[in-house]
Amino acid sequence: MPLLVKRADDLETTWPTDAVRKFDAREDFANPTLDLCMNDPVAFVKRLVPRAIKDPIKEGLRRRRFAKALISFRKLQRDCAPPEHLLEELVEAWGNESYSAQHEYLRELVLTVRKIDGPIVECGSGLTTVLVGLEAQRNGLKHYALENHPEWARRILRDLTAAGVTSTVVYETPLRSYGEYAWYDVSEVELPPKFAMAICDGPPGDTPGGRYGLVPVLQDRLDSGCLIMIDDFQREEEQAITRRWTKETGASFTQHGTNKPFAMLRIP
Ligand SMILES: C[S@@+](CC[C@H](N)C(=O)[O-])C[C@H]1O[C@@H](n2cnc3c(N)ncnc32)[C@H](O)[C@@H]1O
Repeated sequence: MPLLVKRADDLETTWPTDAVRKFDAREDFANPTLDLCMNDPVAFVKRLVPRAIKDPIKEGLRRRRFAKALISFRKLQRDCAPPEHLLEELVEAWGNESYSAQHEYLRELVLTVRKIDGPIVECGSGLTTVLVGLEAQRNGLKHYALENHPEWARRILRDLTAAGVTSTVVYETPLRSYGEYAWYDVSEVELPPKFAMAICDGPPGDTPGGRYGLVPVLQDRLDSGCLIMIDDFQREEEQAITRRWTKETGASFTQHGTNKPFAMLRIP
């Protein structure tokens, strides 16, 4: 039926009809690809590139960015604290933000390693391993990292090599049960008799007992005065582990960090 318009104001109220409105809203007319092409041509082209090409390029760019930040880190004088913006850049370029230590912890870690005069053990590995590795090598300190994840251990080794760190030993070793808790199996790894420092950022949170195993398993190797740094102190589990360690060893602890808290204990 043709639309019968009697007066101009009739046209306003009768056009478009509901049928036309429905027709206009039909999904056949929606074209997200065309919209993206028109509104954001760069994103459109990116979407056309297959992952097999995109991912290695992204990874290459990330590695280059990380290498550049590491060069700045290496240039720091011994008495110069790493600036926050550089540490943040390292964290971002490392590309594992939800697992990495953050700038306050990294800063304290670097400053502490510069003052340490004995071997360092690190539980879990990551960006911290590369930064501690560089500082330890510069200071002639032995540095051992325990890592249960084979692929992750390979990545850390590759990054240590790329950073020119040859003195850090990464032990890829599984987690095993110690009864009440699980921790790294150290029965097959060669460790020094005493450590001056322990960096506690592993094993992963879903491990029975979490990070508790460090003190009971390595107790005899934690020298008097040994400093333990434990990350993620905002978590109840890390707080409970720290309190338990203080009870069991007589150590005292201090809390640090405003954005993401961490704790430091000294073995008496
Ligand atoms: C908290 S992470 C250690 C982070 C390290 N201290 C750093 O600052 O980069 C502890 C353990 O989690 C595991 N891990 C690291 N990144 C992971 C990821 N993206 N997904 C799952 N597990 C990861 C590794 O086994 C690592 O030893």
